[in-house]
Amino acid sequence: SALQNLHTFGLPYHASNIVEIQQVRDVAKILSCSEPYVILGEGSNTIFTTDFSGTVFVNRLKGIELQENADAYHLTVAAGENWHALIEWCLARDIGGFENLALIPGTVGATPIQNIGAYGVEIKQFLKSVKYIDLRSGEERILAHADLALGYRDSIFKHSLQGHYFITEVSFVLPKVYELVLDYGELAQLTDPTKHTVFKKVVEIRSAKLPDPKQVGNSGSFFKNPVVALEILEQVQKTYPSVPYYVVNENTVKIPAAWLIDQAGFKGRYMGGVQCHPKQALVLTNANQALGPEVLSFARTIQKTVAKLFQVHLENEVCLLGQKGPTDLSTFAP
Ligand code: EPU
Repeated sequence: SALQNLHTFGLPYHASNIVEIQQVRDVAKILSCSEPYVILGEGSNTIFTTDFSGTVFVNRLKGIELQENADAYHLTVAAGENWHALIEWCLARDIGGFENLALIPGTVGATPIQNIGAYGVEIKQFLKSVKYIDLRSGEERILAHADLALGYRDSIFKHSLQGHYFITEVSFVLPKVYELVLDYGELAQLTDPTKHTVFKKVVEIRSAKLPDPKQVGNSGSFFKNPVVALEILEQVQKTYPSVPYYVVNENTVKIPAAWLIDQAGFKGRYMGGVQCHPKQALVLTNANQALGPEVLSFARTIQKTVAKLFQVHLENEVCLLGQKGPTDLSTFAP
């Protein structure tokens, strides 16, 4: 059962079994699964670094429901729908809000897990609720916005619910009147900004910088942008006065991981078949028949080098899977 086409990094590994979940009642198969398992959407944020001894369940639930009242559109979307296609579906009906999040790979069901974000917008601002099946009890549950614990690339699904959920449906509210988010440099330059031109521009920016997983395997940003104490930033500024950063609150800032990796000299470099993308240092690609240990050693080397040079810890943003489940990068010895 080949995994190569089930995850966008495209490593040549296999799983013991692959099962598609086409209807909510198929989730019973997960409940009765007695071996290790993982759940995938389109596999755009997961890397199989070796063969997986267990079952891979793929979320293929489909369906979009739209309701409308005076102020807003209410969308209820099955988790297996493609995220970018949903944005296009909305724009074709002149429903806007999601346009800054264009071309983010993956399914709708994955959007709340890591609170996807780009160009000043996070999905957090549109999420109403998430329906999931608790894999411990088999019960269907609904979490409202306030209970999702949404943060930067973070939610309850990465903490107390980790490994215990199968998301079936996501509900969004899109206000009819809203302001376009144009903070990001290239968007600010649009002369006639509309939801449609912003969408087009985001597609253009991303296509220019980020490798298309259909052409060269990758999983988008490999690491999160580290949130660090102000003192760390001041330390880095002594050597690099022009280090870019975003203010998080009065004590902390976010430094672009891409900048740290770039300064550390990795941009464009290879380790085995893995390349640090020449146009965006935060992305590792499957440039030439890469293998799992190469991905792990390259990532670990980057993590260690950045820690040594800047005293900043990079945490992987992608989910790295070993033979029976998640692998902790920091315990991997290259
Ligand atoms: N930079 C470099 N070298 C590079 C690339 C960038 O020094 O090779 C520096 C530049 O100073 C640049 C800054 O890093 O201004 C930030 O780069 P960029 O605007 O490309 O965004 P990012 O912080 O690297 C984040 C998200 C992306 C999202 C973009 C756009 C994370 C981990 N990544 O990247 O999300 O598309 O902003 O908003 O937050 C993803 O999560 O998979 C992803 C692609």
